[in-house]
Amino acid sequence: MQPKPHIVHLPVYQPGKPIEDVKRELGLDEVIKLASNENPYGSSPKVLQAIQQEFANISVYPDGSAVALTQALAKQTGLKEEQFIYGCGSDEIIALITRAFLLPGEESIMADQTFSVYKSNVEIEGAVAVEVPLRDGVHDLDAMLAQINDRTKIIWICNPNNPTGTIVPEAELIAFLDQVPKHVMVVLDEAYAEFVTDRSYPDGIRLLSAYENLVVLRTFSKIYGLASLRIGYGMGAESTIR
Ligand SMILES: Cc1ncc(COP(=O)(O)O)c(C=O)c1O
Repeated sequence: MQPKPHIVHLPVYQPGKPIEDVKRELGLDEVIKLASNENPYGSSPKVLQAIQQEFANISVYPDGSAVALTQALAKQTGLKEEQFIYGCGSDEIIALITRAFLLPGEESIMADQTFSVYKSNVEIEGAVAVEVPLRDGVHDLDAMLAQINDRTKIIWICNPNNPTGTIVPEAELIAFLDQVPKHVMVVLDEAYAEFVTDRSYPDGIRLLSAYENLVVLRTFSKIYGLASLRIGYGMGAESTIR
């Protein structure tokens, strides 16, 4: 059975090796895995307690619209409940975005290097990943703007950027968003937002009211230490989320 021709060349994802394998192979006692950006402090004991309580309910489907979580996030962010979407990690939100918006042959602009999942999902849809080299490890927003043309559909900004850990400051991001045509979606991936201490770092959620074409991604995998639960979410204009 042949897969679609435009996905055959995609690289096979290489997950970080399990700690036990590395210990055995290299005869080490202590190994800290950095490859997957998991939280070394683990999760809150309150989460472990809550999960144990929920064990009694695993025979029923979960609430597909995540009502309780949406109410809590709407309260925390000031957004409407209709502005949230959830996925199996923010990985799935990235896949949903490309699935819903990208047609074969359309273009999607991203940094080189950045989170590899953007490019693989763009290519799975038969669209073209336009990669713009980082400048000193930071997104080169002017060079990304210069790549916009009639075929451009989505631009990805990973802030902070994985793997360089650099940020795009608020003033630069706003100047960039002001220049992106309204029919081009900008996805701001803030998987690591909560770790940033630099005061020039923008809060993407606050920018949503000013930019209808903006989508912000967040996740419970990183600062909350809940990677195995796979809970990521996207926020955007109600029409986009619908
Ligand atoms: C920049 C970035 N975005 C999104 C994700 C996906 O996280 P998750 O699918 O666990 O929400 C990661 C995971 O490493 C990441 O580094």
